[in-house]
Amino acid sequence: MRIAWITDPHLNHCALAAWDRLISQVLQCQCDAVILSGDISEGEDVVFQLRRLADAIGLPIHFVLGNHDFYHSSIERTRDAIRKAVAEHPLLNYLTDSAPVSIGGVALIGVDGWGDATVGDYQRSTVRLNDFRLIDDFFLASPSLWKSILRDLGQCSARRLESLLLSANELHKRLLVVTHVPPFRQACWYQGKTTDDNWAPFFVSGQCGDALIDFAQSKPDSTIDVLCGHTHSGGIAKMRDNLIITTAGADYGSPKVAAVIVISDGQVTMEKAAC
Ligand SMILES: [Fe+2]
Ligand SMILES: [Fe+2]
Repeated sequence: MRIAWITDPHLNHCALAAWDRLISQVLQCQCDAVILSGDISEGEDVVFQLRRLADAIGLPIHFVLGNHDFYHSSIERTRDAIRKAVAEHPLLNYLTDSAPVSIGGVALIGVDGWGDATVGDYQRSTVRLNDFRLIDDFFLASPSLWKSILRDLGQCSARRLESLLLSANELHKRLLVVTHVPPFRQACWYQGKTTDDNWAPFFVSGQCGDALIDFAQSKPDSTIDVLCGHTHSGGIAKMRDNLIITTAGADYGSPKVAAVIVISDGQVTMEKAAC
């Protein structure tokens, strides 16, 4: 089983030639499925792009959403539109809303994740993401509430992840977790370095990280590989012997297959995308 992994394609920034290159790259990989770890597009265009991608490649697409996918709408309205699109298209699977998927002896699960203000120094940070202007949940709230909204979103993802990890573990001891935001500061790369206190509140999904560490420690016989994006810079962080986080890079306007995940007999290996 071969799975093409794409993160942060931001397809609304993508000219037709770049789109054609992405589709032919996916087809050349000779994969059986695609994993998409968020920032697919923005607003209503997310559903359009998911359908367009599924129709173009004719393969199952297992995806989570990134912060950009909620732009020009609210989080709940976006998720409702996504659920409706998934119900109507047999190739689309929103992992956040899905039971674990068994693939070749590996359990695939996913949650959106959120930079949840639990890591770094939110109070002193000078970062103000476009999220606060372009997602209704923030724009319509007082800035004094943003920190608690971020924490609540992170907590929601973490609780969902805890439950998915437990049910996945009943299927298989090898787990593949897809999320948008790196769950640890050590996995949050930018140009070869990990993030500082200024950016970490918005680039680390700390409560999901806590859930992963707790699970990895309590289930030493299980192995967890996590795939994420969001920072547009790549790197690998080994958090425990049985917990490895791979963050993939991305460039606006030039979406690509970041890697091919090969699943065989309950093992997961990653090929750099040569296709
Ligand atoms: Fe992105
Ligand atoms: Fe993002």
